[in-house]
Amino acid sequence: MKFSILFAIFLIFQGIEISNSFTINCNYRTNSLPIIGSVYECYTTNIPTSSGITVTNVNGTHLSGKNNNDVISVWISGNWTLPFVPRNFNIFFPNVKAIRISSTTIETLFGDEFDEFPQLEVLELYQSNLTTISSKLFEKTPKMVYVYFGENMIERVGHDLFTPLNVTQLQRVYFYNNRCIHRSVTNTTAIISLINELREKCPFDDEFSSTSTTTSLTTTEDFVCDLKDSMNEIQENLMKKDEKIEELENKLLELQAQIQIKDQKIENVVSKMKWLKEEMLRLTTHPCACK
Ligand SMILES: *[C@@H]1O[C@H](CO)[C@@H](O)[C@H](O)[C@H]1NC(C)=O
Ligand SMILES: *[C@@H]1O[C@H](CO)[C@@H](O)[C@H](O)[C@H]1NC(C)=O
Ligand SMILES: *[C@@H]1O[C@H](CO)[C@@H](O)[C@H](O)[C@H]1NC(C)=O
Ligand SMILES: *[C@@H]1O[C@H](CO)[C@@H](O)[C@H](O)[C@H]1NC(C)=O
Ligand SMILES: *[C@@H]1O[C@H](CO)[C@@H](O)[C@H](O)[C@H]1NC(C)=O
Repeated sequence: MKFSILFAIFLIFQGIEISNSFTINCNYRTNSLPIIGSVYECYTTNIPTSSGITVTNVNGTHLSGKNNNDVISVWISGNWTLPFVPRNFNIFFPNVKAIRISSTTIETLFGDEFDEFPQLEVLELYQSNLTTISSKLFEKTPKMVYVYFGENMIERVGHDLFTPLNVTQLQRVYFYNNRCIHRSVTNTTAIISLINELREKCPFDDEFSSTSTTTSLTTTEDFVCDLKDSMNEIQENLMKKDEKIEELENKLLELQAQIQIKDQKIENVVSKMKWLKEEMLRLTTHPCACK
């Protein structure tokens, strides 16, 4: 809940449209990926500024003899406008094994973002505003061999992020240039050590999904709904606060008026005392005036 409110505030500042959907404009090409090697890739930089979560279409001209089923890698360069991981593009590219996402304002991976890609082996999300990664992220992608989260602002990593994976199968894990960690490793011993370092330095027990006061958040959609509820709640609270402030202001005015009355009374008493003092002085300096 606390987390949702923080995120709501972030969204308010960003002025983001949540409900839109968009088209990915692919530049199709062959690219060489770490570990996997040469693959057919959709590369895109053309992300609409008010992009939504759901990809409703993909566009672009395939290399000769290729089609959507040949696409193994999708690389989305967000141009610093993309706030969420695009969803649903598995419908167009069912054989994706590698996803690269860069230069985005994505702050949180809620855990279900890559559930539709059970064959995923390579995931990169770098040069972004990522602060938080849920334990659930790899629950549906057990084949990961390469995980790259360098150059983000990571502060919290789910305690069980790597639990669903076979650590001896993992080959490279990158967490360099982050807030709570700055390390990249390329062998099993070092990967185990890095996982322990994450637990120690970036502790996150995923409380935001299990202790929410409203519902348990399991998907991004649930989260967006909860977010809207939170925003309404915040607005109501703000209105209540405004009323309270007005009430207090009225009380203050009342008090000020009472103080003025008291001041007046004090002034009266002071001038009476002054008069008495003068009278006494007159009486003492002219003791015989009465004779
Ligand atoms: C990236 O954003 C900049 C400014 O925000 C804009 O000028 C440029 O056209 C964008 N690039 C792409 C590929 O959308
Ligand atoms: C699809 O891509 C072509 C160029 O490759 C472009 O002219 C067209 O506007 C794109 N369509 C959409 C809906 O983005
Ligand atoms: C995201 O990170 C960039 C670069 O570090 C920064 O300039 C920008 O303000 C950040 N955006 C948000 C919404 O935090
Ligand atoms: C983990 O991966 C290693 C190397 O690929 C393999 O030998 C081992 O059987 C796997 N373990 C499990 C439990 O799948
Ligand atoms: C594993 O990597 C670390 C550096 O990350 C290195 O110090 C260590 O020697 C490597 N171990 C093996 C067995 O290669």
